[in-house]
Amino acid sequence: MDAVPAAIAEVLQRTIDTGGTLCVLTGAGMSAESGIPTFRGTHDSLWSRFDPMRLATADAWREDPALVWGWYRWRMQAVRDAQPHAGHRALAALARRVPLSLVTQNVDDLHERAGSIVDAHVHGGLFALRCFACGHAHTALDDYMEGVQRVEPMRCTACGDRIRPGVVWFGEALPDDAWTSAVDAAERCTLMLVVGTSGLVYPAAGLPALARRKGATVVEINPEPTALSTEMDLVWLATAAQALPLLVG
Ligand code: APR
Repeated sequence: MDAVPAAIAEVLQRTIDTGGTLCVLTGAGMSAESGIPTFRGTHDSLWSRFDPMRLATADAWREDPALVWGWYRWRMQAVRDAQPHAGHRALAALARRVPLSLVTQNVDDLHERAGSIVDAHVHGGLFALRCFACGHAHTALDDYMEGVQRVEPMRCTACGDRIRPGVVWFGEALPDDAWTSAVDAAERCTLMLVVGTSGLVYPAAGLPALARRKGATVVEINPEPTALSTEMDLVWLATAAQALPLLVG
């Protein structure tokens, strides 16, 4: 892996030269090279014991809040211990060269820690704590305990109910403001880069098709083919940390 495919280099340069705009949609694959396991297509033992599809739900929280909270505290610590990689830094650098809207499905803060402004966290944020009942925002975190353990969630200072992570659980609505920003960015962009997503979870997975319907060129960067690959104008079989630094040059 040592060069950007010519067609991709060309469409990026044309976007810059013509005053176009970029929209970058990232998924869990964007964080993989920082050591954060993806949800699918991974045989990482971390998820084999704790199925995200089962735990990331309001029902799981109601049934066993201590298990769900312990799992999220473990995920928060994993993000705290992780570092952004060269791909995250490349996106921050790219935004200094061309108007770039960053839309992510990821709930970690690695883009921000690399210097990016994230326009939309469409699935919320791990560290955006709020009361499960009244929605009151909370910032303080309890002491971290090693590994995934059952940890009784903190209590809301306003109503006494349990504090939950600010991530969107399966079956929950996406944050209005984030989704509106994401749709606006997809509709307005000249070029969309789709990095590290399997394209299986809607409505986020519908953003590339929306961009394309509005006339954008859509490029996928992923080491594997995905559910969206056939809808793409260009596909670059590469990882985020390999491809994005090359793209920025
Ligand atoms: N660089 C780029 N892409 C990668 C890398 C890498 N180093 N490693 C893996 N990938 C790709 C995989 O090939 C896969 O296509 O990242 C994608 C990860 O897919 P998922 O695990 O399904 O993650 P994502 O698409 O973000 O999931 C969407 O599903 O579980 C929910 O809310 C969760 O936001 C998440 C949503």
